[in-house]
Amino acid sequence: MTEQIVNEALSKVTYPGFTKDIVTFGFVKDIQISGNDVSITIDITSSAPEVAQQITDEAQAELKRAGATSATINIKAPQMPKESSSKGKNIAPQVKNFLMVSSGKGGVGKSTTSVNIAISLAKQGKKVGLLDADIYGPNIPRMMGIADIKPEVNGNKVLPINAYGIEVMSMGSLMEEGQSLIWRGAMIMKAIEQFLRDILWSELDVLVIDMPPGTGDAQLTLAQSVPVTAGLTVSTPQSVSLDDSRRSLDMFKKLNIPIAGVIENMSGFIAPDTGVEYDIFGKGTTQPLAEEFDTEIIAEIPIEPSIRTGGDEGKPISYVAPTSESAKRYAAAAESIWATIEKINAEGGVDNQAVQPTTPPGVSACSM
Ligand SMILES: Nc1ncnc2c1ncn2[C@@H]1O[C@H](COP(=O)(O)OP(=O)(O)OP(=O)(O)O)[C@@H](O)[C@H]1O
Ligand SMILES: [Mg+2]
Repeated sequence: MTEQIVNEALSKVTYPGFTKDIVTFGFVKDIQISGNDVSITIDITSSAPEVAQQITDEAQAELKRAGATSATINIKAPQMPKESSSKGKNIAPQVKNFLMVSSGKGGVGKSTTSVNIAISLAKQGKKVGLLDADIYGPNIPRMMGIADIKPEVNGNKVLPINAYGIEVMSMGSLMEEGQSLIWRGAMIMKAIEQFLRDILWSELDVLVIDMPPGTGDAQLTLAQSVPVTAGLTVSTPQSVSLDDSRRSLDMFKKLNIPIAGVIENMSGFIAPDTGVEYDIFGKGTTQPLAEEFDTEIIAEIPIEPSIRTGGDEGKPISYVAPTSESAKRYAAAAESIWATIEKINAEGGVDNQAVQPTTPPGVSACSM
């Protein structure tokens, strides 16, 4: 056996889910040859055991076919976060990670982003929930195509609705359509708590939480109720929106929530007829803000008519048009978010102890 034969054999092994092989990806790190015995080290980026198994099986088969008498495959993979290592108060302990999707301003595309990131994470093999925490203007049921579906009630608990491989819950699913809500602060807090405690979420890898715009009671209550693993800010390239985004990033910092990045939405325009991308409000204007908060723009999502129609019709682009440019960008952003979540957990997770309400001695928190 020679190194060349080994490399040729391994270049027939494609990385699961991709068309490229493990040699082209640069995953083959070490090759030891002694006669016809081969030992290989492969460094992969996925923590899924089935990916490691498939590569091992295929590499062994190819090496034997190429003349190896024995082939030892050592796979190095990032650690799978079995349980979140987070500490502090958690009223939904069966959920391993919480991703808070936020923006300082309304209408920038938080709900659209939440839906497509949640779907992308699910397609990448994660068990995902999507909580619409926008109590005043719940849009998720329409965007997920479940506007007409009422959830099943089990005792005093409610089952989430399944759509596109995701568990979903929204105030919109619990009330009659068109019924508007005028909530007081205390009621918002109660609603957020109930969404976490009284909805029968499964053992989720991640719960994506679509927040109402701004930095108010809902955000604080969420951070106090569960250890939020990471925060995602959605912004548009205009400068007014950027000022608002600064507030959103600043809120993450104050609540001790690690920042998973910024998604610059409505960044350029992709013409549906030609596929040509035009710059409308400017592009990349979010960059200095990301740097200020020591984070990154993890996707620039263009204005694409099919993103809006997908939302209106309950057919999210990441599900119905996975090969579209925007779907690919959402998928890349989801990978980046997951890598951040794994890193945060590997480094000890998050702790929401410091943001718990301080109640004067002798006063019950319930009476406040
Ligand atoms: N990249 C995009 N291309 C085209 N349309 C988009 C894009 N992003 C969002 N939209 C559309 O813009 C509108 C607002 O988006 P969305 O509801 O996601 O924003 P939001 O930040 O959640 O708003 P709110 O603050 O009201 O909750 C929707 O009609 C949505 O379909
Ligand atoms: Mg919204």
